[in-house]
Amino acid sequence: MRYLVTAALPYANGPIHLGHLAGCYLPADIFVRWLKARGEEVLLICGTDEHGVAIELRARKEGCTPMELVDRYYTQIKKSFDDFGIEFSHFSRTSRPIHHETASNFFLSLYEKGVFEERVTEQFYDVEAGQFLADRYILGVCPRCSYDQAYGDQCERCGSSLSPEELIQPRSALSGATPVRRSTRNWFLPMDKLAEGKVFRAYAERVVNWRTHVRGQFNSWINQGLMARSMTRDLNWGIPVPLKGAEGKVLYVWFDAPIGYISATREYFQLQGGAHNEEAWKTWWQSPDTQLVHFIGKDNIVFHTIIFPMILAEHGSYVLPAQVPANEFLNLEGEKISTSRNHAIWLHEYLVDLPGRQDELRYVLTAIAPESKDSDFTWLDYQARVNNELVAILGNFVNRVMVLSHKFCGGRVPDAASMNALPPELQPALEACWFEIDSARAELYALLSEYRLREAQAAMMRLSRAGNKFLAETEPWKRVKEDPQTASGILYVGLQVCAHLAVASTPFLPSTAQKISGQLGWTARTAESDRNWWTDCAVAPGQRARHNPHLLAAEQVLGAAAHLFTPITDEQLQPLRDRLMRSSTPVSHATGASAQFSMKESDKENKESDKENKENNMEMDEKQFVPVKPEVAYPDFEKLDLRVAQIKSAERVEGADKLLKLGIDLGFEQRVVVSGIAQHFDPEGLVGLKVVLLANLAPRKIRGQMSQGMILLAENVDGRLVFAKPDEDADPGAVIR
Ligand code: MF3
Ligand code: ZN
Repeated sequence: MRYLVTAALPYANGPIHLGHLAGCYLPADIFVRWLKARGEEVLLICGTDEHGVAIELRARKEGCTPMELVDRYYTQIKKSFDDFGIEFSHFSRTSRPIHHETASNFFLSLYEKGVFEERVTEQFYDVEAGQFLADRYILGVCPRCSYDQAYGDQCERCGSSLSPEELIQPRSALSGATPVRRSTRNWFLPMDKLAEGKVFRAYAERVVNWRTHVRGQFNSWINQGLMARSMTRDLNWGIPVPLKGAEGKVLYVWFDAPIGYISATREYFQLQGGAHNEEAWKTWWQSPDTQLVHFIGKDNIVFHTIIFPMILAEHGSYVLPAQVPANEFLNLEGEKISTSRNHAIWLHEYLVDLPGRQDELRYVLTAIAPESKDSDFTWLDYQARVNNELVAILGNFVNRVMVLSHKFCGGRVPDAASMNALPPELQPALEACWFEIDSARAELYALLSEYRLREAQAAMMRLSRAGNKFLAETEPWKRVKEDPQTASGILYVGLQVCAHLAVASTPFLPSTAQKISGQLGWTARTAESDRNWWTDCAVAPGQRARHNPHLLAAEQVLGAAAHLFTPITDEQLQPLRDRLMRSSTPVSHATGASAQFSMKESDKENKESDKENKENNMEMDEKQFVPVKPEVAYPDFEKLDLRVAQIKSAERVEGADKLLKLGIDLGFEQRVVVSGIAQHFDPEGLVGLKVVLLANLAPRKIRGQMSQGMILLAENVDGRLVFAKPDEDADPGAVIR
């Protein structure tokens, strides 16, 4: 399969912050690294968006020309992406001639097909400055919150999307003068009509399978009835409208920018050189077997799911997006990220404060990825995840295996025979370890295929948990004196788990993955062996995989052991927390949808979706229901073995005031389940109760007691626990489905 993956072109009007990275660049990079590892044909295309009013205004503010501004930020933005290992196939810019040419021709070919409607409308005009005032060139008092610095397209205080006519006392951002209305000719995309097109309608069918919030926005735009939207502007900075009589007009930035994906692909192939490359980009953009995937933030949804696909469809011959995995917003310490209030963490600053910790940030941003709802980055959570997950689980496991292997096995991978000779009492632990690894791998593959990167990373972490558990259960350090052969067998397994981790972590934590390979001295690792590993993962859900667990060859010489991660101390963190609190100037309304993607060019129609978002948030605040989790496929549900069970005995667990040890009758067998409900129920009252048991949950040792399954309960809003109870008629052992 051929995957053409894009990440939203960032405006070259400021540096990149955490919200940008989490919004689309990191997920795109993870997804593409995974596709590459699987051996798929894939391109990751990006570049800077260098037109639009946001650029012009920023240049004015910084006292330079737009070109100087975009030159500076292009360089800085590109460097930030390089620093964080975002591996674009090509990173271009929309100010390049190849883009001007591509976008102009695109416009012309739509024009010649008669796609546009020419309309004369009245727009605000600044007589002093002698120019029309599009989008952010017009300021005024917000009709909603009375903020006097509201823009013609948005009020940054209350977050409302506005149109210029709504502003009270409109004034020019250029001269401060009161604008007059003047009529002007522009070219509109009749979106209502184009939505009925055959190609677009066929495309719209795919949207049902997309993320709920993406589908939701798509449907709400379509259902409200689309309006015609102008694809040209009366501005100087931008791509000139290639028509006679259109002097002094440029293409609307949201018309030209997405075409930037196409021009960047052209440029990429041009740079590759060679005869066929002139045509190669067409294969990528125009053959029906290309999967076009746009990674974006949620404020770009309408442009990527409706406007750009419409433009592509009207042009003809282009593929339309197969998937638009948009993320919601990342907040920062409980507030919207805001560049204008400097409530943000900039990537270049992060690296000064926490040098070398790129993978740590990648990890945390993926762990809290706002895939289905807004999420919150806090420094304390960052510290906790680095220290309790990366250091304590992943880093600790690899380090223990490395150190012990140097100590007990002469710094080499032991013989596979030592593993085969593990004593019978260790077989269950070994089996469990391989099983965990197999199932984590299958999950990893399935989740990545569905763009569920957050859960996929968690599945990767389960590999190291499985490794840690195996070491804890087999205790090679205790056995080595009496039985060095067994200790070797255990470390043989541990080393193989490390190798699995090196492969599994590659998409998420590329430099950590390399470090693990280096420590293992795994020079035999190749693209092909990785490909086999990943394609082996692709087993049907519910099916037990039979992977080859042996990745490292016996006798392979290990590299030196070194800690993969070091803990973040409170002292390191405090100044960063302080700085954020100091630098962000307070706002009166913390709810405003301030600019995640710095300044955005939004139009009147955005209003509805903003309103919708706000209403959704409000609803959640008031009722406090836990949001419904992301959709699962039926095969996922089928993996759970839910049974009717009857509690036969219940007793407290000594030394643990939360735990009850329950004897459970499953009809065909008796089990022990340890449940953390002692503070909610008296043991006596539970005997005889029929409950629902998750019967195939991996057994777990809790306070020295094996627990074989989990009883299902509901937590009421007030924190009270109640049992999910089957009907009295249900027989113990009966399957629930
Ligand atoms: N520059 C826009 C933003 O930052 C994104 C442009 S995406 C593209 O919100 F598709 F138009 F390129
Ligand atoms: Zn307002």
